[in-house]
Amino acid sequence: MDLQKLILERVRDVRDYPQEGILFKDITPLLADHVAFAGVVDAIVAHHGRGTIDKVVGIEARGFILAAPVAYHFGAGFVPVRKRGKLPSNTHEETYDLEYGTATIEMHTDAFLPGERVLIVDDVLATGGTAGAAIELVRRGGGTVAGLSVLLELSFLPGRQRLDGSGVDVHSLVTV
Ligand code: PRP
Ligand code: MG
Repeated sequence: MDLQKLILERVRDVRDYPQEGILFKDITPLLADHVAFAGVVDAIVAHHGRGTIDKVVGIEARGFILAAPVAYHFGAGFVPVRKRGKLPSNTHEETYDLEYGTATIEMHTDAFLPGERVLIVDDVLATGGTAGAAIELVRRGGGTVAGLSVLLELSFLPGRQRLDGSGVDVHSLVTV
């Protein structure tokens, strides 16, 4: 099976969503295909290797869908990074620029034990704002960022360059 080809076939481009000028990458057809979904989860786990990750961070909302099964397959814990106001206990927060608008994300301050190896998972790397903020949250929480895995990297946006100075291994399954 050519996973990259399958991913490209199953990610749907939606023009002008959520606003004019944005080409939205809709992963729902991929998630609905059990072969594609499992292939993506397995490829992320295989890239890093079992035994290398203590906690997997998923970024609300679409990152949750991929990060939870990745955590299960690593035998690692799952930690949610959520949009502001959704987490009940004490949090660290980071505000960043998105491709469309700005956003603030939060993570519980007690999510990690000191030095735990943390993999951050999201669906798309676009401008890198979300991922950069998540890296910062993990570090403020005392975790060691072992990597960032995304399903899709958008090469026409500066996500990878933005994360260049972070020292984080940026792994994408497909670059478009
Ligand atoms: C999208 C996508 C990534 C992020 C990438 O999430 O799921 O998390 O944008 O963009 P960036 O690299 O420019 O930061 P969005 O904030 O739209 O929310 P959602 O996951 O809840 O749909
Ligand atoms: Mg998202």
